[in-house]
Amino acid sequence: MLSVKTFANEYTRKPGGIGDKGIILFPDDTKLRREVLPVKVAHPAKNSLYMYRAICEYGASFGHKIFCDPMAGGGSMMYGASEVAD
Ligand SMILES: C[S@@+](CC[C@H](N)C(=O)[O-])C[C@H]1O[C@@H](n2cnc3c(N)ncnc32)[C@H](O)[C@@H]1O
Repeated sequence: MLSVKTFANEYTRKPGGIGDKGIILFPDDTKLRREVLPVKVAHPAKNSLYMYRAICEYGASFGHKIFCDPMAGGGSMMYGASEVAD
């Protein structure tokens, strides 16, 4: 039987979001960011490292392990991809 994987299943959701699937409440990533990306990057739109990790884990769960961010942003995708690297 085909099983459906839920994205970022380990995180709490509050009601709402597109199709009422819930809004994912990723934890504050300040401490994690300091640990894994110690060089301060003055990027104006850093997203949650937990979100990027969840994106990469979700992709990897289907066997997809190539993630592309051509300009590297604040390094968040690099961290997410490194978490699922072989
Ligand atoms: C405004 S920055 C956001 C950075 C991100 N919030 C973070 O915390 O690292 C946008 C990033 O998306 C990447 N990007 C833009 N268009 C893309 C595409 N079509 N495919 C993959 N990455 C893309 C850029 O290289 C850039 O690093």
